[in-house]
Amino acid sequence: MTMTESRLTTSRYLSGNFAPIETEVEAFDLRVRGEIPLELTGRLLRIGPNPVTAPDPATYHWFTGSGMVHGLRLRDGKAQWYKNKFVRSDGVSEAKGWPITEGPRHGMSDGTANTNVIGYAGKTYAIVEAGGLPVELSYDLDTLRMSNFDATLPGSFTAHPKRDPFTGELHAMVYYFEWDYLQYVVVGVDGRVRKTLNVPVPGKPMLHDCSITESQVVVMDLPVTFDLEAAMSGRSLPYSWDPEYGARVGLLPRSAADGNETVWCELPELCYVYHPLNSYDLPDGRVVCDVVKHPKMFDTDKYGPFEGIPVLARWTIDPATARVHEEVLDDRGQEFPRMDERLIGQKNRFGYGASFGEGIEHGPALKHDLERGTTEVHEYGSGRVTLEPVFVPRHDDAAEDDGWIMSYVYDATTDSSDVVILNAQDFTGEPLAVISLPQRVPFGFHGNWVPDEE
Ligand SMILES: [Fe+2]
Repeated sequence: MTMTESRLTTSRYLSGNFAPIETEVEAFDLRVRGEIPLELTGRLLRIGPNPVTAPDPATYHWFTGSGMVHGLRLRDGKAQWYKNKFVRSDGVSEAKGWPITEGPRHGMSDGTANTNVIGYAGKTYAIVEAGGLPVELSYDLDTLRMSNFDATLPGSFTAHPKRDPFTGELHAMVYYFEWDYLQYVVVGVDGRVRKTLNVPVPGKPMLHDCSITESQVVVMDLPVTFDLEAAMSGRSLPYSWDPEYGARVGLLPRSAADGNETVWCELPELCYVYHPLNSYDLPDGRVVCDVVKHPKMFDTDKYGPFEGIPVLARWTIDPATARVHEEVLDDRGQEFPRMDERLIGQKNRFGYGASFGEGIEHGPALKHDLERGTTEVHEYGSGRVTLEPVFVPRHDDAAEDDGWIMSYVYDATTDSSDVVILNAQDFTGEPLAVISLPQRVPFGFHGNWVPDEE
């Protein structure tokens, strides 16, 4: 048997509910069990990888599939529509024979955007890290154009900008494999970049997300780095576990004029983090940063994000000693941490997440009470598992957990999907509403509730 013949013929990331769907669907007046809160007027958007052509299962990386966006529009207590559309990267346009999407390109990216979908400054964007530009979508999720924010973005962008609840601005940490720095980017409320700052680093780390406090940007510099050998061999996501690189976290003052003002603090052990939950300043100058922490990444599995159970941990970062104290807050396997985003950068009491067990087994939703040190678990029923849960406040002045948890839920017993709305203050109680979707929504990455006024 040759090496080629002995390689995998199936991929976990192309099987079951990871498998792509082929069709774009529009459905109207969807069936609802229960009652959709009348306050909810907008779209619950979600995105994930959905390869437009069948990839080689032996080399397919979950993070690299073409983007497909899903949306559910709610109004007047009704589920008005569900739509799903490919994000029209050059690869998608070529495969489908569709016109090439207008707008700029960056680096080697073909415009694939598959990781997050946001509303900002009156527009809808599919976004991604590692080189691709934001892709502007219409309200109905059609691809309009690639965007570099009116030519104000010098390089690439991220899938995880953080919106400052006071200023409304987006704060992002950005990377690209040709750069020997990370780049801090601030997008103003006019949708144009108003500040960039390069933060030198000793290698080329993968940086998925960032976190902000009132005064600082929390910058992760962790041991998953660009792997030239893997790139030369054609691996689609050439980043590998690199324990020699070390693990540290930086505090970059938001007011900094130079990226070298970053204060780097060593982490007590190697790890990888995709997603912080939140960060905030302490009065003595330390910073608390809660994260979902993986023991390592892309060491034995080069094609997806599982190298052991990811847990919720708290970093207390002390710039005076350049050290970080770490404690595990909850050792259940979990990912996709979310919160009430009105408290980004402030001390939050509650956090939410999706179960993420052995082999990326999806499951119930979690609600953490960080003040009491307790966690509630919402089970969606036999065979039913949640994708990323999104918190939506009841109104602008509502208490921190006064609102709803909305998520796309997959039912393996019927191979179908629903959107489920929970009362966040009655987390383990019966759902308020279950909205039936016309097709399953594959496991993927992120999404947001985008109210119509945004
Ligand atoms: Fe993410």
